[in-house]
Parts: sequence; C-alpha cells; structure tokens
Amino acid sequence: MSIHSWWFQVQVKNVSRLCHAKPIVTVNGRFPGPTIYAREGDRVLINVSNHAQYNMSIHWHGLKQYRNGWADGPAYITQCPIQTGSSYVYAFNVTGQRGTLWWHAHILWLRATVYGAIVIMPKQGTPFPFPRPEREEIILLGEWWHADVEEVVKQGNNLGLPPNMSDAHTINGKPGPLFPCSEKHTFAMEVEQGKTYLLRIINSALNDELFFAIAGHNVTVVEIDAVYTKPFTTQALIIAPGQTTNVLVRANQLPGRYFMAVRPFIDVPIPVDNKTATAILQYKGIPNTVIPTLPQLPAPNDSALVLSYNKKLRSLNSPKYPANIPLKVDRHLFYTVGLGMNSCPTCVNGTRLTASLNNISFVMPQIGLLQAHYFKTKGVFRTDFPDRPPTPFNYTGAPLTANLGTAKGTRLSKIAFNSTVELVLQDTNLLTVESHPFHLHGYNFFVVGTGIGNFNPAKDPAKYNLVDPPERNTVGVPTAGWTAIRFTANNPGVWFLHCHLELHTGWGLKTALVVEDGPGSDQTVLPPPKNLPPC
Ligand code: C2O
Repeated sequence: MSIHSWWFQVQVKNVSRLCHAKPIVTVNGRFPGPTIYAREGDRVLINVSNHAQYNMSIHWHGLKQYRNGWADGPAYITQCPIQTGSSYVYAFNVTGQRGTLWWHAHILWLRATVYGAIVIMPKQGTPFPFPRPEREEIILLGEWWHADVEEVVKQGNNLGLPPNMSDAHTINGKPGPLFPCSEKHTFAMEVEQGKTYLLRIINSALNDELFFAIAGHNVTVVEIDAVYTKPFTTQALIIAPGQTTNVLVRANQLPGRYFMAVRPFIDVPIPVDNKTATAILQYKGIPNTVIPTLPQLPAPNDSALVLSYNKKLRSLNSPKYPANIPLKVDRHLFYTVGLGMNSCPTCVNGTRLTASLNNISFVMPQIGLLQAHYFKTKGVFRTDFPDRPPTPFNYTGAPLTANLGTAKGTRLSKIAFNSTVELVLQDTNLLTVESHPFHLHGYNFFVVGTGIGNFNPAKDPAKYNLVDPPERNTVGVPTAGWTAIRFTANNPGVWFLHCHLELHTGWGLKTALVVEDGPGSDQTVLPPPKNLPPC
C-alpha cells in the first residue's frame, strides 16, 4: 500500500471563456481541477484548504468510503463545510475499486467549476480485461455560464423559476470552436493511425444528460462508474451527470481531424438546449488548417436510443460467475420521484418549483447528519421516511398539477446493517415527467430492472436481470418510467441519495439512508477525524 498526498488549494481565479473573463472558484488555480491518481489498495490524503469566499466541501464521487463517511464530503450530510480560511484533510483507503471516478464540490452549485477526475489503477500486475491501450485521456464534460453561477441560482430561487440554461457545454473545460472566441479554448487529442486509446469520460455537467460521439469512429464501452462491462461497440453514447464511461477508440480512419461532440439529451418539452461542444481527435502529422468533420449525434429527444443503449450495459458476470446480487430482499423501498409547485409568497407567481421523493421535499439540516447520528444528537433528523408513497396514484398518467401536498422535512430511512435492499425509483407526472440520474453515496448497486410506465410489483420483478446487471453508483430513472436497484447495506453511516441534476437537488429531490452499525467491532462507523470542520 502506498500513501498519496495531495494539496487542494481552493482559490478564485479569472478564467476567460466565450469572449468574457470572470472569477471562478478553482482548485490550485486549475480548471478543470487536478486528477487524483491512485492504485487499488492505496491510501489517499487530500488536504483541502479553502481560500475562496464560499464555504467548501468536496465529494469523492463513487468511492465507497467503507465505515468512513467522514471523508465522503457532502455538506451538512457527512460534514460541516470547510469555512473560508480553514482546511480539512480527507483521508481514505481505496479498497476493492478500480477505474474512473471523479471529485466535485458538494455545496451550493460550486461544482460548476470545482471538479476533476479520479483514476484508480488496478493492483500492480493485474491487467485490464481488454488489450492494453496505447495511451489514455481524461474527457471531462461540463457546462459554462457567462454569469456567476451562484448569482444565477439565487435569481432563479427568488423568482421561483429555473435558473438559466448554461451558455455552453465544455470538454475538459473548453467549449470548442463552434462557440464564439473559442478557437483557442478547444481540447485536442493526438492519435496515431492504427493505435487504440482509452477515453475516461466523465459527465460533470450540472443539469444535462449528454450524448457523446466521435466523427467517423465507433467507440467500445468497457467500463461504467468504475466497474468493467462486457464490451460493446456503439456510434454514440449517453452519459448522465455523475456517471463515468470508459471507452476504447481505435484510430482506424483516414488520417485527418475529427470532431468529438457532446449535446444534451432532453426528452421533455422544455426549452431545448442544443448547443454542441466539440473537441478534436487529431491524427499525427495532420495540419491544424484541415477543417474537422462533425459526428452524427442522436436527436435531442431520442429516448428509444437511450433505453436500448442502457440495456446493452452488462457486467462481466455470467451464470458461471454470478455477481453478488442480493436474490432475497429484506427491505423493499419504493420512492416516487416528482417535480411540483409549492406556494411561495415572495415569488413572482406566488408559487415555486419543488421536487420530492414520496412527496417529501428534503430540508437541509444545520449540522452534519453523520455527526448527529454518531453522537446521537436529538432533533436534527427523523428516521420516518416512508418506504412507499403515502397515497398511491397513477404515477405516469395525466399530469397532476396539484402536488399532492408536498411535505417538507429532514426525514431519512433507517436501514439494518447487512440487510438486502431493493429500491424502486418511479418517475411521476406531477408537473411533468422528466428523467433523473440518481446517485447513492457509499455504495455501488446493481441495476436489476428498468421500464416505462408504472412499476408493476406483480410482474416486473420476474423480468429482472439477476445474472449480469450493470453495477454503478448513478443510474437514470427514465422519463415516465422506473428503475430498480439492489444492494446489501454493509457500509454503516449516513449516505446521501439524490438526483444529480443540481437544479432538482436544490428543489429537494434528495434524502439519505442511515445504515446502522453492525454487531462486530469492525462493522461500525469509525470515530470522526480530529480536524473535522466544526459547524
Ligand atoms: Cu456526485 Cu452527492 O454527488
């Protein structure tokens, strides 16, 4: 085991994009931030010192943090934020995981600019389950706003309207030449004909699921959310905020310049955002004067393609080597995922958008929930989050403009240690249907089933994939459909469960699971580190 230490200085820097410069929050003055490299089994120490005017916390998205929620990072869930002028050392082991993950600010909307990649190499001597690529490249997909992002959010909150769409999408922080003043803000990757490259693609956008394709080249998906998949070849891929996808691309075309492009997937009638960010796959020796060709991207609302793409994602398991999927379920959870309206006397229309799980819009606490749980502090949260919606209805039927009385509260589910859990996330048509990428902290889960319409507990479980379902940490709940996940609750602590669209998280589309300690002395939440930020 080796120990890797990093120093993350959170600081403001002027960065110019789309013809304007603006101050943004960065790590070490870099945008996107530095990549964390480690090997499976290593220990990682990251000293985050905050020199920005905002309080900060950083989440290591997809790292399981066994017994060690103290290093997980979501503000007010597992820690209080790192105040301006203070620092905190995130200390954790990287056990039983390898692949591409990422880190991002987990407070306000600061992850708009505070994010970077995490690359965990397999143990020494353990090869990838595919031919060794010539080289690898990180591809961080993001969004860029002209305005100060925190101001955009505030404005939206005051008016009760969604904040403006971003002004550009980005690839490694750069929008590419289709945007004004962006010729020099274009990411390029050089390749040699005949060689194969590994792309570690991360969707760090705030609010957009994205299609990605490379002109003239197919890609082979080999890993999602740091878990290998059975390889499959595709012209385009879909990736939701929070998710990662590793692909192999073979430089097997005529030497030239080819655009990689990203554009949002949006299958609901909201203002369509069809801005395309581009980067360049550049064959060695080809001059920059050659105009690249654009790939064919799926139509912005091609939900059929998204469904069929997601069905192709399979783990490496087989009947002979079955995955460790719980076959018997101790605890069945069924959460409706809904957007709605609440009254808001200070808002322009007297109403504001809200979002809820089982009709409960989550209220952020004032101190970290993990501390409250560990020290048994009363009055911070309740553990009566309902296992199923209070009033069943036709979830995906005609839109219900009434919000069925969305309640508010800091309400969590208590889960017994080592119990097997099935969670069905059901999209609803309260205001409108929409797809939601859900992320669970502290765990990977198996995506055993998904479908369109209302989940049918009598019929749908019979169709589950219990042999080789994808294992991941963030999963899309399809528009007007449902997704079923299973996991064994073997990691004690308080684990955030939320939509990874920042807009929806802000409206309350989140809750947390309190996984109780196990009986063994090695099955309990570890004691908090000494320098845990105070509230
Ligand atoms: Cu990547 Cu709680 O988030």
